[in-house]
Amino acid sequence: MKTPTLQDFTAQRRPIVAADGVIYLLDQTRLPHAVEILAVRDGDAAAHAIRSMQIRGAPLIGAVAAFGLALYLQKNAGAAALSAAFATLAETRPTAINLLWALRRMQAAVEALPEAQRAARAWAEAQAILAEDIAQNVSIGGHGLAALREHARADRPLQVMTHCNAGWLATGGEGTAISPIYAAQAAGVPIHVWVSETRPRNQGLLTEWELRQAGIPHTFVADNAAGLLLRQGMIDAVIVGADRIAANGDVANKIGTYLKALACADNGVPFYVAAPGSTFDFACPDGNAIPIEERAGSEVRSVAGATGDACLLPDAVAVSNYGFDVTPARLVAGIVTERGLLPASVNGLRQAFPEAARAAQEC
Ligand code: MRU
Repeated sequence: MKTPTLQDFTAQRRPIVAADGVIYLLDQTRLPHAVEILAVRDGDAAAHAIRSMQIRGAPLIGAVAAFGLALYLQKNAGAAALSAAFATLAETRPTAINLLWALRRMQAAVEALPEAQRAARAWAEAQAILAEDIAQNVSIGGHGLAALREHARADRPLQVMTHCNAGWLATGGEGTAISPIYAAQAAGVPIHVWVSETRPRNQGLLTEWELRQAGIPHTFVADNAAGLLLRQGMIDAVIVGADRIAANGDVANKIGTYLKALACADNGVPFYVAAPGSTFDFACPDGNAIPIEERAGSEVRSVAGATGDACLLPDAVAVSNYGFDVTPARLVAGIVTERGLLPASVNGLRQAFPEAARAAQEC
């Protein structure tokens, strides 16, 4: 197939086009300032796309890792090559559990097959992972909208705040936290979205770009504005995505999420998390067991803009750059999944995803 255009991605709200042994991706290190479409033809390029954050967002990381494994197997489908491909892809991003979830599923799908059949089977399994994620996004949209509507006031559009980007750029389809917002628009529910910038990488710009494409009313704010907006009663509900959810409902998501949850609790505003089953890690008893990614200090010492990176600090200045934080389950009003709205508790999660909870116990 010929390289898709920007329109091919935006019209369907899809961040990945996979066909004829190639995956096409929108380079998210360039968006929203520039549009560059990547043609990924081998496993190393897929690993690089994840590691360098050309693609990002937990479910999309999982899908691209799945295709990456398939691309590695197209070159060499032997047992040693399969293990090496798994290991290379697994180390690209440590917090998003969707990555390991997808790789384990891919390995299970191919390892018992004769070598000659593995590459084709792997590509089909990656396509299945992507298709399932797209369908799950739609379900999350419906359940999430039902939850959010509970908090709407009669005198104004529903005021929803989000953090980072959990829209179509971060998943296979409509997104997780942003899917209910697209569902609101489709259902004619008046809605206004407060988008926080999400320093240091400013993924809020991606959310703003998505909402602008869709014509959904929104306001972009500095991260530090969230407390004031919540205290002044300007926000009806907050909804964010997740990179990993522990068995007790503790949620790892983009750095800054925890502060929003705290401010929600202090102001009686519900704080929701939206995520598919592939984001649950029943092997992690609580959030303390979730590995937190630390990234290069250069991301804090500079800021990316339309005309390139602006340097804020000299290299010699010590900085820290944790990519994620953990929000304790007690601050979470509910977790929106493809199987409905769940209480953030051991029993709530286990009852909704018994097969995943059992599998974690067995290994
Ligand atoms: O570092 P990123 O941009 O990959 O982090 C993304 C997030 O934290 C998202 O909120 C999360 O992955 C959910 S995406 C549907």
